[in-house]
Amino acid sequence: MAKLALRVNGAVREIESDDPDVPLLYLLRNDLGLSGTKFGCGLAQCGACTVLVDGRAVRSCNAPARAVVGQDVVTIEGLGSDDRPDPVQSAFIAEQAAQCGYCTAGMVMTARALLAHTPRPSEQQVREALAGNLCRCGSHARVIRAVLRAAAQGGR
Ligand code: FES
Ligand code: FES
Repeated sequence: MAKLALRVNGAVREIESDDPDVPLLYLLRNDLGLSGTKFGCGLAQCGACTVLVDGRAVRSCNAPARAVVGQDVVTIEGLGSDDRPDPVQSAFIAEQAAQCGYCTAGMVMTARALLAHTPRPSEQQVREALAGNLCRCGSHARVIRAVLRAAAQGGR
């Protein structure tokens, strides 16, 4: 049984697992109850499980939890709140950039990582950044508008 101390949304959380390669996604959802991060494919193919690790967009289904010990993990729950949404979240609401919402947390986290290092991306840069985030509902056009809206409003 291995004990892992993960820093998630600003707090250190200690979790035990008997799987040395347990994916970060499983601990976030099953042990910490952070179900905003979704399990889509489990194969690093869809982006639904994207979280931030030291500001980088990481697919948590494909990241061993032990590999992020000592780094800052941020999930959608840690990005903003109902009262104080992150500018990317506000822009997604303004553009109604979701239908079922299953892909949305991953889209938002990927966009957040993009805007942190490229605050005023071109539409092409937004498209490229989100190319690996799949939306089965076909919300892509509105997602791209939302990210451009957040950027135009200084959404760092
Ligand atoms: S669930 Fe991780 S990329 Fe699809
Ligand atoms: S809004 Fe349904 S998968 Fe994207």
